[in-house]
Amino acid sequence: MFMFVFLFMYDIAVLFLDPGTEIAFVLDGSGSIESEDFKRAKDFITTVMKNVWEKCFNCEFAVVQYGSEIRTELSLNEKDGPKAIETVKNIEQIENATITASAIIYTIEHVFVPENGSKEDSKKMMIVVSDGAISLWDKTHLEKAKNLLETKNITRFAIGVGNQTKIEELKIISNSESNLFLVGDYKALEGILSKLKTSIIKGIEGNTKRL
Ligand SMILES: *[C@@H]1O[C@H](CO)[C@@H](O)[C@H](O)[C@H]1NC(C)=O
Ligand SMILES: *[C@@H]1O[C@H](CO)[C@@H](O)[C@H](O)[C@H]1NC(C)=O
Ligand SMILES: *[C@@H]1O[C@H](CO)[C@@H](O)[C@H](O)[C@H]1NC(C)=O
Ligand SMILES: *[C@@H]1O[C@H](CO)[C@@H](O)[C@H](O)[C@H]1NC(C)=O
Ligand SMILES: [Mg+2]
Repeated sequence: MFMFVFLFMYDIAVLFLDPGTEIAFVLDGSGSIESEDFKRAKDFITTVMKNVWEKCFNCEFAVVQYGSEIRTELSLNEKDGPKAIETVKNIEQIENATITASAIIYTIEHVFVPENGSKEDSKKMMIVVSDGAISLWDKTHLEKAKNLLETKNITRFAIGVGNQTKIEELKIISNSESNLFLVGDYKALEGILSKLKTSIIKGIEGNTKRL
């Protein structure tokens, strides 16, 4: 009985002391993506959010879209789940270039910051979804993006959609083969849902320090 009470209180303490996990999606909105495929990408993101929330009370999401510009579509500051889902559903595609490297740098410098709701000691993850090769002028920023991801200890996943992606780039972004997902088209995103969710949850649980 005492043991039970102790363990129960311990779990409550972990819940309140755990700084939580922040997960940023970096979403390609380049012109090569058909509007129905862009909608599929958004549906995929909201499904991941809902699935992770079933397991993780302490998970916050952000979404950055990139095209001719880079912008925060969903900030970590949005704490209301249904509102966050609605915000993602209403994202409008930017189109134009594939500036994946700059978008990663933007996310680290402007989303994972205290001013925008990020906690210093929370676990951080980034999920990059792209259908193409990084635009030529932006490729020069990939090394900086990789260094920042490593310095900031961000767990990263890369999801390459279709046959126009560059595997070498996605490998640099994801850092490990197990965090790299390749699918034939946007319809096939559904097929990696459960594996991605398992990887995310595994990453979250690895962060909770047990006595
Ligand atoms: C798309 O990119 C091209 C070349 O970088 C640029 O000239 C054009 O203005 C951009 N279009 C929009 C809508 O931003
Ligand atoms: C906070 O997010 C906004 C976009 O929502 C961005 O313009 C701003 O630069 C961010 N703040 C910091 C300190 O990076
Ligand atoms: C690449 O994918 C597109 C769209 O799915 C398809 O139409 C095209 O045939 C593919 N090209 C190659 C070389 O596989
Ligand atoms: C990096 O993150 C992992 C997983 O959250 C954690 O175990 C490790 O202590 C972190 N390393 C540093 C240097 O913060
Ligand atoms: Mg593209």
